[in-house]
Amino acid sequence: MKEYSKEHFADEEQFMKENNYPDLEDHKKKHDMFIDKVCVYEDVELLLRAPYYDMLNFLKEWMVEHITVCDQRIATFLNQ
Ligand SMILES: [Fe+2]
Repeated sequence: MKEYSKEHFADEEQFMKENNYPDLEDHKKKHDMFIDKVCVYEDVELLLRAPYYDMLNFLKEWMVEHITVCDQRIATFLNQ
């Protein structure tokens, strides 16, 4: 998931850059925070101590907040 996310985010950030998206830096920070969190879950010791639903909750919130709100703003910007 980490490698796929990194590749996807790099493509998305390049796309935003090419289209002069004004919130690129803030958006990139959110991508970086996601990768940081995924790295925590990659640590098996930490993962075993963390409640399973913590990871599911994080992924659910990411899907709802980032993809449907933050990424949608890119589409709205491009359509203007
Ligand atoms: Fe994004």
